[in-house]
Amino acid sequence: MSRRPNTGRRFGDSGSMPFVGAFHPKSRPSPLLSVGLVVVGALLIVGYLYHGSGGQSGDIAALNRHDGGVSCTQEVQRLIPILKKAYGDSMRKVLHVGPETCSVVSQLLKEEDTEAWGVEPYDLDDADGNCKSLVHKGIVRAADVKFPLPYRPKSFSLVIVSDALDYLSPKYLNKTVPELARVSADGLVILSGYPGQQRAKVAELSKFGRPAKLRSSSWWIRFFIQTSLEENETAIKKFEQAAAKKSYKSACQVFHLKPLH
Ligand SMILES: *[C@@H]1O[C@H](CO)[C@@H](O)[C@H](O)[C@H]1NC(C)=O
Ligand SMILES: *[C@@H]1O[C@H](CO)[C@@H](O)[C@H](O)[C@H]1NC(C)=O
Repeated sequence: MSRRPNTGRRFGDSGSMPFVGAFHPKSRPSPLLSVGLVVVGALLIVGYLYHGSGGQSGDIAALNRHDGGVSCTQEVQRLIPILKKAYGDSMRKVLHVGPETCSVVSQLLKEEDTEAWGVEPYDLDDADGNCKSLVHKGIVRAADVKFPLPYRPKSFSLVIVSDALDYLSPKYLNKTVPELARVSADGLVILSGYPGQQRAKVAELSKFGRPAKLRSSSWWIRFFIQTSLEENETAIKKFEQAAAKKSYKSACQVFHLKPLH
């Protein structure tokens, strides 16, 4: 949009002024008016063309950014070695909650001494063969995380949630986050996007029914205090040390909460 006024000014200076002199504006206003209209029309067309081409390349850039957008579920997969360092034995029974949970669960199952389960926040309609087999074995299930999870308290040693919370309004977060902390024995790890970040998978939107709302870390910390959830300072420290050792910089915000009992 900013190009339009510039273009207009450039054309106005060099194009319309000579005409004003030639047609004696005082005595004959109507030719001036029509010339003015022609000039305005030309400006609009030029402006439209400029804007059109600018808009188009802008859209392409936006699309590319979406393609390379950030998925915190993918980030979990990169984080597993660091989480193992930070949580040690608490990685023995892990529940992952988030879109594309099959990919995380599959990777966790490759780790020694780790059992893993997954909750896909919406449907599993587009599951591949490997994912279908995890569903068939009862390891992965689809469940709406807005409602209580079908697990007893402390069913898992560690619960990891990625992306899913970014799609919930505070009304549901108030119930869902304590619920995730309830089913965990040793801790809850939350991965959430940074404000202003491009999300991967625009197609997810229709599933979640609302766009991701990426909240700042101060928003989250205030939310934890309001809902009486405590951050686990020991886990934060160990996680940061392990991350520094591997020169790992997370593309997502990572929070470490104590379980709720
Ligand atoms: C969430 O819970 C907190 C603390 O109980 C409360 O202050 C807040 O109003 C609740 N928010 C919503 C949207 O229900
Ligand atoms: C905090 O996290 C550590 C893992 O770093 C865990 O061993 C410990 O039990 C947690 N503390 C609480 C109070 O949950």
